[in-house]
Amino acid sequence: MNHPDHYAVFGNPIKHSKSPRIHSLFAAQTGQDINYQAQEVPAENFEAAVSAFFAQGGKGLNCTVPLKELAWAYANQKTERAQLAKAVNTLALQADGTVLGDNTDGCGLVTDLTTNHGISLNGTNILILGAGGASRGIIAPILAQQPARIVIANRTVDKALQLACEFQQLGAVSGCGFDALAGQQFGLILNATSASLSDQLPPLPDGLLATHGTCYDLAYGNTPTAFVRWGIAHGAAKSLDGLGMLVEQAAEAFFIWRGVRPATAPVIALLDGERNPQ
Ligand code: ATR
Repeated sequence: MNHPDHYAVFGNPIKHSKSPRIHSLFAAQTGQDINYQAQEVPAENFEAAVSAFFAQGGKGLNCTVPLKELAWAYANQKTERAQLAKAVNTLALQADGTVLGDNTDGCGLVTDLTTNHGISLNGTNILILGAGGASRGIIAPILAQQPARIVIANRTVDKALQLACEFQQLGAVSGCGFDALAGQQFGLILNATSASLSDQLPPLPDGLLATHGTCYDLAYGNTPTAFVRWGIAHGAAKSLDGLGMLVEQAAEAFFIWRGVRPATAPVIALLDGERNPQ
């Protein structure tokens, strides 16, 4: 008798994670026999929990806040994009018993923007709000699309400058504080701050978004986030949240583990239809 292969997402908190649902939808759709659980893992237990998971036959893990940097340190080998991000959201057991670390967040975002929403990043002026872990994961995949430039704006200016410095060799990227944004205009504004989680917004000047511009919040919720509402109020052609990115980063992880690419559109549509219950 064949047993399902075991996968899990580790995080803290993890109760509201949509990942088990997404991966079971992918598995049903592609006929893959897998079991995927969510497990609350505090940072101090991370190494022991990961080692136990793989020792008990687990095949792959997703790691989310606040464990992505620890997962990066844990992985025996890392993909180039994970190396650059200094954060890992996907661990995959290899045939030789070692563990590969990847970061599928940035490519999930780029796929959602370009494939799902038809938004070209090539030649676009892009503003990233925030200079934490979420920003770090998306910069290299965005630069690979050859935007005109990326500006990283952050409350703590030094962190924006430092992050820009780390990615400078890959393209035009600079850092600043929010007050330096006055008079500038961007075709795409990405919110990678954690402000959305408390329904707050960084201070943003009027005129920041170009005509026909796009706003995208890496966070998502059952109702529009503060930044999605800001985009709508400031005339965005599209003001999107991160549900599509969540499903796309999961699809990329599923592909790494199973070698099969699930169709994401029906899963995004299903999850989208389940929110905003009126
Ligand atoms: P994550 O891994 O989600 O990126 P993080 O590394 O703690 O989390 O980074 C959170 C980001 O959101 C930071 O850029 C933070 O700004 P600081 O570096 O100045 O702390 C930003 N942030 C959080 N709350 C914010 C708020 N209310 N206004 C503006 N920026 C905020």
